[in-house]
Amino acid sequence: MHIIAVNGSHRKGKNTAALLGVVLEEAAALGATTELLELADYNIKHCLSCNKCLGRPQCNITDDDMAMIGKKLLAADGIVLGSPVYWANVTTLMKNFMDRTRYMHMVKNMLAGKVGGAVTNAGLRNGGQEAALRIMEFFLAAQGLHVVDSRNQDGPIMTVGVAGSLQADIKDGKVVWRKGALEDEAAVLAARHLGKNMVQLIQQLK
Ligand SMILES: Cc1cc2nc3c(=O)[nH]c(=O)nc-3n(C[C@H](O)[C@H](O)[C@H](O)COP(=O)(O)O)c2cc1C
Repeated sequence: MHIIAVNGSHRKGKNTAALLGVVLEEAAALGATTELLELADYNIKHCLSCNKCLGRPQCNITDDDMAMIGKKLLAADGIVLGSPVYWANVTTLMKNFMDRTRYMHMVKNMLAGKVGGAVTNAGLRNGGQEAALRIMEFFLAAQGLHVVDSRNQDGPIMTVGVAGSLQADIKDGKVVWRKGALEDEAAVLAARHLGKNMVQLIQQLK
């Protein structure tokens, strides 16, 4: 069982990567092999809307890294997307990645039957996390993946989405910032549940 995480943060190894790391750590503890793919590492040109992918399951742009990334997606049993919130949305890198996977969707859903999940984090409390999560989950569902959330299957429901925040609270009239998303206990717990839920569903589907 292989699970790939795709990080759309424009900053490698920061908060979004950390939350994806927790999902992968949990999945690995349950037997999965894992990989973190940082979109910032790759050359991914933007979709030209040439519509060639309407007639064949292949992108017309071939002189960048997208074909290699597509192969990695196809080889995985599970795909977890991560994006920080940028303007209550996903990042440019994540959206660009989504656009360029259109060839995997238009003729047939090449990723159908895999298991998907998503994580996000933002600077502010209520900073658009739900919107960004829904955008990634909609994408995964449209691509034919079985989308799981981070609901705890074996205990009380804590949260149903991995959504971190750096603004911890207001104390004595002042905003208190976390040092990083990993200090958001609820987000870390949710990320663990997401990893577990992904592994369990992949096992059930096999
Ligand atoms: C262009 C831009 C737009 C942002 N928009 C929002 C926003 O709408 N709401 C919010 O709470 N934080 C927003 N942020 C803050 C990021 O979501 C936050 O810093 C996040 O932790 C970055 O993740 P990273 O550490 O993986 O890069 C924005 C940051 C940038 C650079």
